[in-house]
Parts: sequence; C-alpha cells; structure tokens
Amino acid sequence: MKVAVLMGGWSAEREVSLMSGRGVAKACRTLGHETHEIDMDRDVAAVLSALAPDIVFNALHGVPGEDGTVQGMLDMLGLRYTHSGVAASVVAIDKELTKRVLVPAGIRMPEGRIVETESLHAGDPLPRPYVLKPVNEGSSVGIAIVTADSNYGDPIARDAAGPWQDFKTLLAEPFVGTRELTVAVLGDRPLAVTELIPTRGFYDFDAKYTEGLTEHRCPADLPQDVAARAMADAVKAHQLLGCEGVSRSDFRYDDQGPEGLYLLETNTQPGMTPLSLVPEQARHVGMTYEHLVQRIIDEALE
Ligand code: DAL
Ligand code: MG
Repeated sequence: MKVAVLMGGWSAEREVSLMSGRGVAKACRTLGHETHEIDMDRDVAAVLSALAPDIVFNALHGVPGEDGTVQGMLDMLGLRYTHSGVAASVVAIDKELTKRVLVPAGIRMPEGRIVETESLHAGDPLPRPYVLKPVNEGSSVGIAIVTADSNYGDPIARDAAGPWQDFKTLLAEPFVGTRELTVAVLGDRPLAVTELIPTRGFYDFDAKYTEGLTEHRCPADLPQDVAARAMADAVKAHQLLGCEGVSRSDFRYDDQGPEGLYLLETNTQPGMTPLSLVPEQARHVGMTYEHLVQRIIDEALE
C-alpha cells in the first residue's frame, strides 16, 4: 500500500509532529508499505495529487493539521486519510466549542470564559487559582497556571510555559483537580486510563516530551468507578464530536469519586512519539506500535 505520512507543518507543535510522523513512517516501512514522508508546506496539495497515495496518514498536530483545514483539503483532493474529518476537527480543536457539545450531554468540564489577553493586566478574570490557555493549541503550548502567590501585575509572564503573548484571546478556566488522567479511544473502544505524574511542576511541554520528567501510570491506580467513568466519558466525547480512528481525552481528577472528574479536551490528532500516551496504552492492551499504526490505517479504509 502507498502511504503518505503527513507531518511537520508550521504549528507550534511542528517538532512534536515530526517525531510522531517519523515514528509512524518507520512503522509503515516495517509493515511493508511504500512510505512517503511529507513535511507539509503550502504546496502540499500538488505534492499529494502527484503522489496519489492509497492513504494519507495524518501525523500533524495543531493548526492547520488538526483543525479541519487539512482535512478539507484532503476531501477536496478525494484522498482517504486517517483520524477525524472536518467537522469533528473544527469543534475538537477549540476547547470552548467542545464544551458546547459535550456539557449539555452530561460530560463535566470546567466552566471557563474567553478573555482578551490585554485585559489580564487589569485584573484576574477568575478567582485564583485558575488556568489561562489558548483555545486551539496542543502540548500545553501557551498555558499558564495563576496561583494565589503569582506576582500580580505580570501574572502570566511569571508562570507561562509558552508564548502566551502570541494570543489575542485566551480561555480562562478554574484550576480543577489534583491528578491528571488520559484515555485513548480507538475505533469507539477505550484503551486504558493513564495517570501522568510530573516529577516537578505540571504536565507542561517539557514534561510531555523529556524522558524521565513524568511518571506514566498505566493503568492508573484509581477506584474502579472512577476509571469506568473516565473511559465512558472518553468514548462519549469521541462519539458526540464525531471523531474517527483514534482520539485521546484528557481529564483532571480530585479524588472525590466519579463526580470529581473533569474532561479538559479531546485530542483528534494525539501524539505518536516514543513518549506518547496512545502508543503506551496500545502496548498495555497488547498492541505493538506497528499494529497500532496499521489499525489506524484500517479504520480509515473501512
Ligand atoms: N497535542 C499533542 C500532540 C497530543 O495531544 O498528544
Ligand atoms: Mg490537546
């Protein structure tokens, strides 16, 4: 089979996508597929048209590979591709839009509001502690946690893990939960619940991609009803958003039973790097990285 692995691009998660894409391409070669690695630039439509692959493996993260734009281009080209289509991607990339779909269906999410970044210099948008995040970035890019002792006057500069200044608006959410959980859904089935325990600070960009900075507990040590709720909510989110192939929903949890669980977001293009969580959960259920890549391709060809 001729596989085009689409990776890179120009989002803030470019380097992460290159790691995901190279991992996927290597697996595709091991699986015996004719594999083409394509670092996406603005001429990618012409490149893909000429190549005419049987399947495009979308290993992009962030905008425009995760927000429906690339998916629309691939639809226009008449090419089949892995992961979610246009509609699910448009909604899921936007953490505020996601709430409008999931909260009325009974999924608990922190109640946030959109604020102008400029307005933050005038005062706190919410009682502390709270979180500021771009609505449509991944890998914790641009996230700031404002705590009681953040130095006001410049609250986010002090705590920022990323270039928050680049964003005109941010989503402000109460800081909920003490524990960080994640659940991958592959073809409508949950794989496992993983708990992420950073060795310092929170599960930020460095903690996500530097070996040894985060302990991953898979399966998480949780009451059975909490694990069951997390898996059920992840499947519900996957289905309500109309996700395809694989997605991964991230949660915060505060040790108060299933009612203490908050879904933060659903990722339609979850990472496939060696430290990423979907491959790890796949391993937990007995699936090698190569097997996972083939499953994602098969889901797209169904
Ligand atoms: N945004 C990163 C790639 C993830 O969700 O895994
Ligand atoms: Mg994300």
